[in-house]
Amino acid sequence: MEHHANLVPWQLLVQEKDGDLEFIPITDDGVLRLEVLEVLLRLKPKLVAFTHVSNTLGTINPVREMVEMAHAAGALVLVDGAQAVPHVPVDVQAIGADFYAFSGHKMLGPMGSGVLWSRRELLEEMPPFLAGGEMIREVHLRRSDWNDIPWKFEAGTPDVAAAIGLGVAADYLSGLGMGRVREHERDLVAYALDVLPREVPEIALYGPTAELRGGVVPFNMPGIHPHDVAQVLDRSGVAVRAGHHCTMPLHERLDLPATARASFNVYSTREDIDALVAGLHEVRRVFGN
Ligand SMILES: Cc1ncc(COP(=O)(O)O)c(C=O)c1O
Repeated sequence: MEHHANLVPWQLLVQEKDGDLEFIPITDDGVLRLEVLEVLLRLKPKLVAFTHVSNTLGTINPVREMVEMAHAAGALVLVDGAQAVPHVPVDVQAIGADFYAFSGHKMLGPMGSGVLWSRRELLEEMPPFLAGGEMIREVHLRRSDWNDIPWKFEAGTPDVAAAIGLGVAADYLSGLGMGRVREHERDLVAYALDVLPREVPEIALYGPTAELRGGVVPFNMPGIHPHDVAQVLDRSGVAVRAGHHCTMPLHERLDLPATARASFNVYSTREDIDALVAGLHEVRRVFGN
């Protein structure tokens, strides 16, 4: 169920290190099959990486349990939190992962900003991966030594404006209260999952129940390409995304060329979902179904 951002880097790494990738399969409802993870862990992987919340299906993974399983097998764990940090309360200490990454632009902050959180002792151990100013303490002609973390990993002039913007976004969300944000989106997802199949019975919905899902609802209208659906919805003032949402392997697994996806945020309302329903009636009218 991974976004390409949590797949392609590992493809490059295994090429470089001559390693191997294994994948945790999902159920048809888009839930990770932990009983298969249990078996895969017998292969003693060095790293287990998974998303906290799926950007396409919305699945909220049981990250704490998965971290415990992976650690028990001796693996390090990286969690992709890009869709979790903006939508659900996240406590990196409680999750216990070794690395937790998220992006500023998913949490109402500037593009190109983001965070990689890690345990201090791991960061101390790790060599720098970018070279330049700021990441050094002393430079000589034939050798240099490294600055303290986090500067060791922050070569060159940083994007200070983006970092300040990210801080403002974090303060804004914290001010709303992430528990309230989650509750708001859970209510919207539950409403959408209730109203969509009642009002548009032919709609195909993907992903788990509202309890296990963040604020996204992927769907298809039978016989109508999601790009066409999105265009007609757009004309009705409803913005959805159509395509593979940077999860091509997931779409292959579900045997779908593409999906349309309604996504909710702090500013979304039940009226927006009613507008989506009305827009889907218009889709039906335009395409004559
Ligand atoms: C779950 C998930 N992971 C990773 C990313 C990639 O983030 P970025 O574009 O900041 O690398 C996204 C969205 O773009 C995402 O939804």
